[in-house]
Amino acid sequence: MRTYVAVAIVLVALGVGCQAQAGGSSPKLTEAEIENRINDLLANMTMAEKLGQLLQLDGLTTGEYRPEHIELAQKGLLGSTLNVRGARMVNELHNATMQSRLKIPILLGFDVIHGYRTLFPIPLGETASWDLEAVERASAIAAAEAASAGLHWTFAPMVDVMRDPRWGRVMEGSGEDVHLGIEMAKARIRGFQGTDYSQKDKVLACAKHFVGYGAAEGGRDYNTVDMSERRLREHYLPPFKASVEAGVGSFMTAFNDLNGVPATANQFLLRQILREEWKFDGLVISDYNAVQELINHGMAADGSEAAMYGLNGGTDMEMLSRTYVDSAARLVETGKVTLATIDTAVRHVLRIKFRLGLFAEPFPFASEELEQQTIKKPEFLQAARELAAKSFVLLKNANQILPIDLTKIRELVVIGSLADDKPNTLDWWAGDARAEDSITILQGLRDYVASANPANPVRVTFSKGCESSCTSDKDFAAAVTAVGTADIAVIVVGEVREVSGEAASLSNIDLSGRQLDLVKAIAETGKPYVIVLKNGRPLTIDWLAMHAPAILVTWHSGTMGGPAVADVLFGAVNPSGKLPMTFPRNVGQIPLYHDYKNTGRPYNIAERYTSKYMDIEHGPLYPFGFGLSYTTFQFSELKLSAERVKNGESVKVSVQVQNNGTRDGEEVVQLYLRDVASRITRPVRQLKAFRKLALKVNEKQTVEFTVTAEDMGFLDETWKMTIEAGEFQVFVGNSADAELMARFYVDGEPTTETTSAVPSPTQSRSDATVRTDATVEMSTGAPTQPGQNVATTQGSGASDTTVTSAATLLCSVLAMIVLLN
Ligand SMILES: *[C@@H]1O[C@H](CO)[C@@H](O)[C@H](O)[C@H]1NC(C)=O
Ligand SMILES: *[C@@H]1O[C@H](CO)[C@@H](O)[C@H](O)[C@H]1NC(C)=O
Ligand SMILES: *[C@@H]1O[C@H](CO)[C@@H](O)[C@H](O)[C@H]1NC(C)=O
Repeated sequence: MRTYVAVAIVLVALGVGCQAQAGGSSPKLTEAEIENRINDLLANMTMAEKLGQLLQLDGLTTGEYRPEHIELAQKGLLGSTLNVRGARMVNELHNATMQSRLKIPILLGFDVIHGYRTLFPIPLGETASWDLEAVERASAIAAAEAASAGLHWTFAPMVDVMRDPRWGRVMEGSGEDVHLGIEMAKARIRGFQGTDYSQKDKVLACAKHFVGYGAAEGGRDYNTVDMSERRLREHYLPPFKASVEAGVGSFMTAFNDLNGVPATANQFLLRQILREEWKFDGLVISDYNAVQELINHGMAADGSEAAMYGLNGGTDMEMLSRTYVDSAARLVETGKVTLATIDTAVRHVLRIKFRLGLFAEPFPFASEELEQQTIKKPEFLQAARELAAKSFVLLKNANQILPIDLTKIRELVVIGSLADDKPNTLDWWAGDARAEDSITILQGLRDYVASANPANPVRVTFSKGCESSCTSDKDFAAAVTAVGTADIAVIVVGEVREVSGEAASLSNIDLSGRQLDLVKAIAETGKPYVIVLKNGRPLTIDWLAMHAPAILVTWHSGTMGGPAVADVLFGAVNPSGKLPMTFPRNVGQIPLYHDYKNTGRPYNIAERYTSKYMDIEHGPLYPFGFGLSYTTFQFSELKLSAERVKNGESVKVSVQVQNNGTRDGEEVVQLYLRDVASRITRPVRQLKAFRKLALKVNEKQTVEFTVTAEDMGFLDETWKMTIEAGEFQVFVGNSADAELMARFYVDGEPTTETTSAVPSPTQSRSDATVRTDATVEMSTGAPTQPGQNVATTQGSGASDTTVTSAATLLCSVLAMIVLLN
C-alpha cells in the first residue's frame, strides 16, 4: 500500500513528463541512432529516390494535394509539399507514402507566418509590441493550430533586416534593428519549435531569407543586392546566426543575388558561413522556384546548370522547380556534382524528418477531431486580441483626444472603407485564416459600445467616403453629412492587402488614392477626428502628423484586430507599441534608419557643407522606437556601475522610470550605446537592450541593464570581435532619440577573441537585460566565448535527448512498478 502511495505521488509529480512521453510517438532516437538510420536508408535508396527527397511541390492554395503527388508518393519520389494541409488531405498523402518501398514520410510545409487559422498581427506589428513573451505565445499558438492540421514545417520566421519601406515585404519582418530582430527571431523560434519540434503541438521553423533580401535595390522585390562583407556581417547576418543558436531546424535561401552570386547558389553563404562557421546541420530549402530562376539571374545556361549550381552551392531541397530530379543523375554521371553532395543534401532532409519523429508516426497521421478542437480556441482568439492591442503605436494624441470617453458622446461616425472590409482583415500572409472568422474595425467598435452600455449604447454610424484606391470624391459629401450629427469621427485609412507583402513594392508610400483628400474634407467640418492607420509598412504621413489630432498605427492586425482597435480607442487598453521601423518624411529620404554613421560632416542646420537634404526638414517624421501612451513616463537617475572599466569588463546601467501621468500603462525602456572612437567607424547609436514594463500611476521602478563587453565590441578586419579602449556613451529613453546620457571609459589594450569569426549576438546579448548575477557573470565573459556558445547550442540538442531518454526510462520503470503492485 505504501509503495502504491509513494509511486502515485511520484507519478503525479512526473505526470506532465510522462504524459508528454506517452503523447509522443515513440522513444526518441539519439542523434547517433538517427545518423545510423540515415546511413541504412542511403545505402538502399536509388538515385531517383534520393532526388525525390530533394523535391518540394506545391499543393493548391486551398490545401488539397494534386493527383500527381499521390503517384509520386506511392513511388517514394516526393520529399515534401507546401500548402497541402488539413487532417484529411494529410492522411491521404501519408497513406500513399506508406505504400512506397522505403516508406519515407513526406515533410509537409506551409506559410504559417503569423497565425494558422487564428490570425495575429503581421510580424512587423507583432514586433511593434516589443513584447517577446506575447510574440512567442503567438508563434506557439500558430504552431499548435498548424500541427493539428497535420503540418510539420512553417516558412517562418523571416529574419531579414530591412530599411526600405518601399519593399512590400517589410510587413513580414521585424523592422530595421539588428538587436530587436535577433530577439524577435529567437522568440518566434521558441514559439514554433519549443524545446523539441517533434512534440505534437510544435512545428519546424525556417529562418529566411538567407540573405540580404531586405536590401534589394530601391526596395524592388527580388532585386540585386551588393554590399560590403562588413555590412553583411554587422547588420544582415546576426539574426540568422542567432536563429542557428536558437536551434532553428531549417533555412530558406533568398531570391536575390549577393555581390554577383545568387543566394540560392552561393557557396560563401551556404557552405562557408552557414555550415562551416556556424555549424548548422539542418535543412536548406530554396525559395519558390529559385533554383530554376538561376537561369534568369544569368548564372545558369539551362536547367541542368541550375541544378549544378544549386546543389554545389549548398541548397538541399528545391521548392517547386524540378531541376534536381530532372538533371542531377546525369550531373553525377558526368562528374559535375559528386555523389557525396547528393547524399549530404538527402541526409539533411532525412535528419529533419527523423528529428521531427515522422518515421515513428502512427496511422492515421493527423486527427480531424483534434484539428476541430484546436483551431480558433477562445483563448487563442483572446491572445490575438491582446497582442493586436499591444502592437498599435500611438503617434500623436493632441489634447488627449484619445481615449474616447463613451460617457461623454452620443454618436460616433466611422469613415473609410477599410473599417468595414472583411477581406482586408486578412493580409498577404494569412495562413489558413478565413475572412468570415474575423471582426472588422466597425464591428469591433459596435460590439464594444453595445457591451459598455447595453441599455443605451452610443450610436455608431458608418460612411465609406473613399476606397483606399479611390480616384473620385463622389462619396465625400455623404461622409461629410454623416459627420454632421456625430460627436467625433474615427477615420480609417491605409493600405489594402494587395499593396503590402511579396511583390508589393511601391515607389510612393503616401496614403493611396484620394484618402488624404477625404481626411481633409472631414477636417474642414471642424469636428474632432482621429486617424486609424491600417498599414503594412511605414507610410509618409507628414500632413497627418501636422494636422490630425490623433494617429494610431494599427498595421494589419488579424482576426481580432477590430475588437483590439476598440480596446485602445476607448481606453480599455493603454497603447504601448513602439515603431520597429523609422517613419520617413518623404520617400526621397529612404533609406533612413536610426543606427547610421556620423560621417565626416554630420548634419548641422547652420552649416551648408554638412550631410543633409536642402529641401526637407532633417531626420525622420517619427523615429525608430517611438510611440506614445495615454500616460507619461519620466526617466531619471541614469547611473553606471563604473566610469572606467578594464577591457573585457561589463558595466551595469540603472535608470529610474516613473509613470507620472494619470493612467496605468506600459513603457519600453530602450538602451542605446555609442562607441565614440574606434578604428572601424561605429553607428551614432545602437540598440543593445530593452525592457517592457508596466507601471501604475505614480509607480516608479529602477531598471537595470548590463552592457556586456561584447556589446562594446566590433568586428575587426578579419571578422573577429574586438574591443578598443576609449569613450562609450549610453543613452536611455523611450525611442532612438533618447536623451538621457552617461559616459564610461574602457581602459587597456584591445582584446580580440580568437575562437569565432563572427560575433555571438544571442545568448549573452539577451542576458544584457537580465538582472541576476549569475547571468551577468556569463555575459562578462562573452568576448572570449562565441565559439563555445555555438558548441553549447549545438550540443544542447543532444543533452535534451539524454534528458528525454532518462525521463522515458523513469516513466517506464514507474509504470512497471505500478503494474507489479
Ligand atoms: C538497407 O540495407 C541494409 C543492408 O542490405 C539492411 O540491413 C537494412 O535493413 C536496409 N534498410 C532499409 C531501411 O531497407
Ligand atoms: C490508404 O490506401 C489504401 C490502399 O490504396 C486504401 O485502401 C485506403 O482506403 C487508404 N486509406 C486512407 C485513409 O486514405
Ligand atoms: C512627466 O515627465 C515628463 C518627462 O520628464 C515631463 O515632460 C512631464 O512634464 C511630467 N509630467 C508631470 C505631470 O509631471
